[in-house]
Amino acid sequence: MKTIRVALLGLGTVGKGVYHHLTTNRKRIEKEFGITIDIATIIVKHPEKHHSFERKELISNDFQTILDNPDIDVVIEAIIGREPAFSYLTKSIQAEKHIITANKEMFAFHGKELLHLANAYNVQVGFEATTAGGIPIIHTIKRLFQYNQISKLTAILNGTSNYILSEMRNNKLSFEEALQQAQQLGYAEANPTNDIEGYDSFYKLMILSLLLYQEQPNWDYVKRKGISTITSKDIANHTANRERIKLLAVLEKQNDNISARVEPLAIPESHPLYGVEGVQNAVILEGSIVGEIMLSGPGAGASPTASAILEDLTFILRTGLSTHISPIYS
Ligand SMILES: NC(=O)c1ccc[n+]([C@@H]2O[C@H](COP(=O)([O-])OP(=O)(O)OC[C@H]3O[C@@H](n4cnc5c(N)ncnc54)[C@H](OP(=O)(O)O)[C@@H]3O)[C@@H](O)[C@H]2O)c1
Repeated sequence: MKTIRVALLGLGTVGKGVYHHLTTNRKRIEKEFGITIDIATIIVKHPEKHHSFERKELISNDFQTILDNPDIDVVIEAIIGREPAFSYLTKSIQAEKHIITANKEMFAFHGKELLHLANAYNVQVGFEATTAGGIPIIHTIKRLFQYNQISKLTAILNGTSNYILSEMRNNKLSFEEALQQAQQLGYAEANPTNDIEGYDSFYKLMILSLLLYQEQPNWDYVKRKGISTITSKDIANHTANRERIKLLAVLEKQNDNISARVEPLAIPESHPLYGVEGVQNAVILEGSIVGEIMLSGPGAGASPTASAILEDLTFILRTGLSTHISPIYS
């Protein structure tokens, strides 16, 4: 049986999710695909933290071992921040390895460079997990929205903010109480700035712009406002008007002009995003032929994000372009 060797960068929420689902589905994948997916190595920052991990012999902090191993076909990256993630993925592509990333901040900054580089080296880049968690928005746009032109995208892309706003309304919590609850439940990080100040939605929106229009608007002209100034009174006033405040990310292309914004807006009951609650995400696309469609689902978390990564992996296995992976289905 053919073996595909995968390197995993990061063993946090996402990395553990990927490890778990790769391990528990191993037999089924072997049966259905005739292929064994082997995790060859796991790179983390602090190996000593992972002494109780069931396969601790795979763990190190030495990225070079991946480059030195020509048998590793795919590098899955789930670490934090722009560096060293960008350098690691650049080197992986140059070593002719396919890459998959969940790292939205890094990909919003460097996605275009990585895609170009991957093209030159004839390897693939999976980035489904960077945007809208488990919703297959990237593949939907890339594979199923080629004939339509998308003039506008409106989305809820940050589950943490959406959860906080839902809790403030449904359970009459203050912003601080709702944030604290989100942190206790693991929806918000100890430093929640990225989520509540709109950066997370902004990065995802820039990735969607790159995908839809092959370019991004000038970041300096993109409005980015989060939810940290929303008060219980704001929520109550809009609720009385049968409106809900949502952190919306909007991307539009008119003529040749791309505009984008992230901001909390009150939407009426008739709006399709009105019923998107809690940690759910949703994306509305306006296609030139199909009209308006909406995709919704879990926006973050170990399993939804692992799902996106593993669908990218499956796609690479099916269509692998490099000389060292032949397509499973011809
Ligand atoms: N959590 C989600 O629901 C979610 C959803 C979509 C996308 N993402 C993205 O996925 C990525 C990972 O998120 P997460 O929630 O899994 O983060 P996390 O729980 O904080 O885990 C981060 C992992 O990255 C490792 N790491 C950090 N810096 C490193 C470095 N310089 N070299 C090697 N390893 C390093 C850490 O190593 P140690 O364990 O040794 O500290 C840890 O294992 C982020 O880019 C995030 O934006 C997350």
